[in-house]
Amino acid sequence: MKVPNDKINVMISYDEMQSRIKEIANQINKDYKGKSLLVVCILKGAVLFYSDLVRMLDMDVRFDFMTISSYGNSTESTGEVKIKKDLDNSINEQHVLIVEDIVDSGLTLKNLKEVLSTRKPASIKVCCMLDKPSRRKVEMIPDYCCFEIPDKFVVGYGLDYSEEYRQLKDVCFIDPEFAKTL
Ligand code: IMP
Repeated sequence: MKVPNDKINVMISYDEMQSRIKEIANQINKDYKGKSLLVVCILKGAVLFYSDLVRMLDMDVRFDFMTISSYGNSTESTGEVKIKKDLDNSINEQHVLIVEDIVDSGLTLKNLKEVLSTRKPASIKVCCMLDKPSRRKVEMIPDYCCFEIPDKFVVGYGLDYSEEYRQLKDVCFIDPEFAKTL
């Protein structure tokens, strides 16, 4: 279903996001100083956040990408986490930073961290663009987070509703009453 333009409003502007990503990147640069970092992008939602973040990192960085299924085409998590595209390379003894778009129930990242931990990385941390702590079903505290947001369905800056709206420049929320009808 198409969401009418007047039901989509800005929550976090592109400029606000840029300055917050800079702060997070500075922290990551301090924490991993002198180390190399494997930065894992969770496709597709994190791709714009990821590309902004990695350009601000100043340690040795390598890229890898994963696709995980979580929501299907709905706005509610199914709780089921399936790896659709795995990492290309081993993470054994690597410092791994998972870059995710948004933490909601926490199920995706909790499961993903468990799976990747069995591959014996040197360390594994999570960096998310957005966090909806009030929606948590399992314990998951991101190590780095740009913004905590209220329980609203958001699109833009890489985030989609049914594969649309990812290209919106700002993080926008869908009118909550309208979102109930989706
Ligand atoms: P979780 O497993 O419930 O934490 O869900 C995480 C995933 O659900 C994210 O990676 C997103 O793909 C998706 N998701 C959660 N909330 C939103 C939202 O408000 N807008 C778009 N996608 C969302």
